[in-house]
Amino acid sequence: MDIVDFEVNASALAGALAGLDRNTYRHSQRVQRLAVMIGKIMGLTQGELTTLSLGSLLHDVGKKYVPREILLKETTLAQEEWEVIELHPVYGWEYANAVNLGQVTQEIILHHHLWFDGQGGYPGHEEPVCPSLLAQITTVADVVDAMTQDRPYRRALSVETSLDYLQEKSGSQFGPDVVEIVIQNLAEIVSVMNV
Ligand SMILES: [Fe+2]
Repeated sequence: MDIVDFEVNASALAGALAGLDRNTYRHSQRVQRLAVMIGKIMGLTQGELTTLSLGSLLHDVGKKYVPREILLKETTLAQEEWEVIELHPVYGWEYANAVNLGQVTQEIILHHHLWFDGQGGYPGHEEPVCPSLLAQITTVADVVDAMTQDRPYRRALSVETSLDYLQEKSGSQFGPDVVEIVIQNLAEIVSVMNV
């Protein structure tokens, strides 16, 4: 486990967040809060929580490199536009690598759309790989927030609907231990998301 040095990464963090659109920035903050809360309940060490905090905050940093006209489009995206969006974990990994955020943080960013079983997700993975626990937590926090917020192309879904989806995909798309924690701590989860 690499433990981030906040002094070293402070300027990289500021630079990374500065380029994000407003919706992605606010989504990233909610995902960070939710991910860290899940991590604390799961008993992660302080070093792991610090890495999780940074990785979850920056999970979508690669969206800086997706053209705004695609990212903010309010109508259905064409296949080739989705293909550009699906590259954002790779773009984010390249950014994190360039500013030396550390291997575990870089993998959180690269793997945040990767399935737990290594079989699905966005491009960037030649071989099936199981994401780290920190990446699994970020993935679940990301999906819960994405489903329960309005998107340009659909209205927000209820917390109950998003939990049903988590359970349905537990063990395939999502890490089962993380899903279990979310189910067991629903009240706290909702309170964090409504901040
Ligand atoms: Fe993402």
